[in-house]
Amino acid sequence: MKVIITGGAGYIGSHVCLAVHRSGHTPVIIDNFSNSSPACVRRLGELIDDVVECHNVDVCDAGMLNDVFAAVLPGAVIHCAGLKAVGESFADPLHYYEKNILGAVNVLRAMDVVGTSRVIFSSSATVYGDPEYLPYDEQHRLAPENPYGRTKLFIEHLIHDWDKAGKNRSAVLLRYFNPIGAHPSGLIGEDPNDFPNNLMPYILDVAAGKRPDLKVFGDDYQTPDGTGVRDYIHVEDLADGHVAALGYAVRHTGVGTFNLGTGRGYSVLEVIAAFERASNRQIPYEVVARRAGDIAEFFADASKASETFGWSPNRDLDRMCADAWNWRVKNPNGYSE
Ligand SMILES: NC(=O)c1ccc[n+]([C@@H]2O[C@H](COP(=O)([O-])OP(=O)(O)OC[C@H]3O[C@@H](n4cnc5c(N)ncnc54)[C@H](O)[C@@H]3O)[C@@H](O)[C@H]2O)c1
Repeated sequence: MKVIITGGAGYIGSHVCLAVHRSGHTPVIIDNFSNSSPACVRRLGELIDDVVECHNVDVCDAGMLNDVFAAVLPGAVIHCAGLKAVGESFADPLHYYEKNILGAVNVLRAMDVVGTSRVIFSSSATVYGDPEYLPYDEQHRLAPENPYGRTKLFIEHLIHDWDKAGKNRSAVLLRYFNPIGAHPSGLIGEDPNDFPNNLMPYILDVAAGKRPDLKVFGDDYQTPDGTGVRDYIHVEDLADGHVAALGYAVRHTGVGTFNLGTGRGYSVLEVIAAFERASNRQIPYEVVARRAGDIAEFFADASKASETFGWSPNRDLDRMCADAWNWRVKNPNGYSE
């Protein structure tokens, strides 16, 4: 079956393309390269030893999107394309609402036109907001604290409404926790094009000598060592979760919602220690004030995905760090060749 992966040249989407290919399906990418590079698509081709079909299209352009869908006739869609920077979503919320929500509406419409009934959506743990309890399970109250998270929640609602309005539709909403790491080949990985907001890209910059030290935002949280705790998941495990979800969507109708995390939280200091082991480099750090909006800890209850479609992550933190570092060493400038 052909599977359209919107945002398939991005960090997560590119790993999803490989997982889809490994599972025997044919990935077809739609991406406007607003946060990615055509070099990624070429490298995916090297990895699967074939040309990966890719369309340089903005999902907000309904006409072009419909043309691609009519030509591809996908059996399913994995909708990863979207804007994802929380800070930017505060600065320009209208842009986030427009691109993320219009993009999702257009993808669902394009599916309807050609009769594609299965969609997997890249949602986020951000939809939960401040934890009322931990680990977050899928029943946790939904109260995102930023415009980015609200676009994800609105799209979840949109998909529920779309599902109810038609027959035999199936949708899987995947709430990602904190993906890090890279494909072990070092050919694809995360290539942020601005100042890193997330821990791992920041650590990689420090390890590579691009920044003098890592700023640790607060060490006075109610956590074992005082630093923030997050549920990091290897991007390859996350990608495998999409294939499991796809199988589920083929066998079921209706909407299923699943956390994709490991269920285990790691503190900033634990990640630094694991990275130092993996890279054999020291990561100098300085503790600075907490960042506005950060919470002490969050991690997933990932048992529903495991019980429902037999997916569970199996790459540990050392492996995540080793693969992230391998990608960085082989690509000091990301995809710029
Ligand atoms: N990385 C994370 O920590 C994380 C966590 C939770 C959820 N997510 C979600 O997962 C998805 C993928 O995230 P990622 O980390 O791979 O981000 P990314 O920016 O690397 O990938 C997104 C891809 O979508 C493309 N894109 C963006 N807007 C588009 C548009 N209008 N039309 C066509 N292509 C477009 C970009 O060029 C990019 O290749 C996003 O929807 C993001 O919100 C990511």
